[in-house]
Amino acid sequence: MVRKPTVKTDCDVKDKNLAKAGKDRIEWADRHMPVLRLIREKFEKTKPLKGIRIGACLHVTTETANLMRTLKAGGAEAALCASNPLSTQDDVAASLSYDFGIPTFAIKGEDNKTYYKHIDAVLDKNPQITMDDGADLVNTLHSKRKKLIDGIIGGTEETTTGVIRLNAMAEQGVLAYPIIAVNDAMTKHLFDNRYGTGQSTLDGVVRATNILFAGSVVVVCGYGWCGRGTAMRAKGMGSHVIVTEVDPVRALEAVMDGFQVMPIAKAAGVGDLFITVTGDIHVIRPEHFKKMKDGAIVCNSGHFNVELDLDGLKKIALRDQEMRPFVREYVLKNGRKEKSIYVLADGRLVNLSAAEGHPAEVMDMSFANQALSAEFLVKHAMDMENEVYVIPDEIDQDIASLKLHAKGIKIDSLTKEQLIYLSSFDMGT
Ligand code: ADE
Repeated sequence: MVRKPTVKTDCDVKDKNLAKAGKDRIEWADRHMPVLRLIREKFEKTKPLKGIRIGACLHVTTETANLMRTLKAGGAEAALCASNPLSTQDDVAASLSYDFGIPTFAIKGEDNKTYYKHIDAVLDKNPQITMDDGADLVNTLHSKRKKLIDGIIGGTEETTTGVIRLNAMAEQGVLAYPIIAVNDAMTKHLFDNRYGTGQSTLDGVVRATNILFAGSVVVVCGYGWCGRGTAMRAKGMGSHVIVTEVDPVRALEAVMDGFQVMPIAKAAGVGDLFITVTGDIHVIRPEHFKKMKDGAIVCNSGHFNVELDLDGLKKIALRDQEMRPFVREYVLKNGRKEKSIYVLADGRLVNLSAAEGHPAEVMDMSFANQALSAEFLVKHAMDMENEVYVIPDEIDQDIASLKLHAKGIKIDSLTKEQLIYLSSFDMGT
């Protein structure tokens, strides 16, 4: 039976009849997002975002849906578009639009033109706060929609790649309003980037390929928080893990964490599965594809699809074909024979394209940071410069405390004596 949508709103989604399935899944995620739920309940009473227009460009997932509900509960008029053409969950987009009355512009698999049309649709709502994941919204605003900038009070940014772009804008003096780097909160990157990416990346690989990790050689390119999590989880699944890095400190850390470290030029010949999580461009290039074993699988879990040089791969490939959803085979010449390299999800984030992204339990803290940052901007943006800000430490500590409380975990607090000791310098050997 097709259920009638409950609310009609301005939107562009794949199919409104998916709304019921989306709503059930949004509620399932909500059960695993206790901190965000507490914030939503508080926002419902205090309305800290009353009348504030928020334009969000985020992965359209069940977890994001609960963030959007929270912003709306706080009194905001929020609109949403996707931060990646392949990460949208179409049932969630339908439910947000038709059950929750939140204008959503996102269709899984949309082409680049539609992706930017959807960003424009959100900007057409004249947002006062931007909420970005990767900085495409902010970038569009600063390049093609400059006239809207006067109406903006501030913004937030979810991910490492976005923060890198925004820092570059701030350094070049072109950032036109203050932005809070949600990514840099401890309760964000220590959990979302590490445990979230670690689990969801392997989940994406497994759903796309059903390969066995035990006994396979997994090459993880990049040992930032996402790389650390991915390497740790692959090791936990019984893989032999090789890490590639450009930063000597991180490389050393990987060595002491028990991983083999070597240049990608060497790792290329030994890996069964390659995962890029560097945030940089062309980490795996044609010279590396040429060295790979027949059957090697290559994917990316970094924000943009630039980490694999797929144009370079296409140039050296004899032919290509889709083997199964999210798996494309590239056939290369291999001496007198041929060999196949398999690329997952067209090099886009494998965790959000072939799976559902990070579990709700970690997005709970990431999006608690987003919601509280929006509240912070409403109160303080007028006193902030056009710079990239870290979240105030109290917000981070509060979110961690709420998460511990939700998990029923109690911790110690400092005694009076300990407090005095920590602020003194005269007690030594
Ligand atoms: N980024 C990574 N995982 C995500 C998720 N589940 N929802 C929104 N953004 C994400």
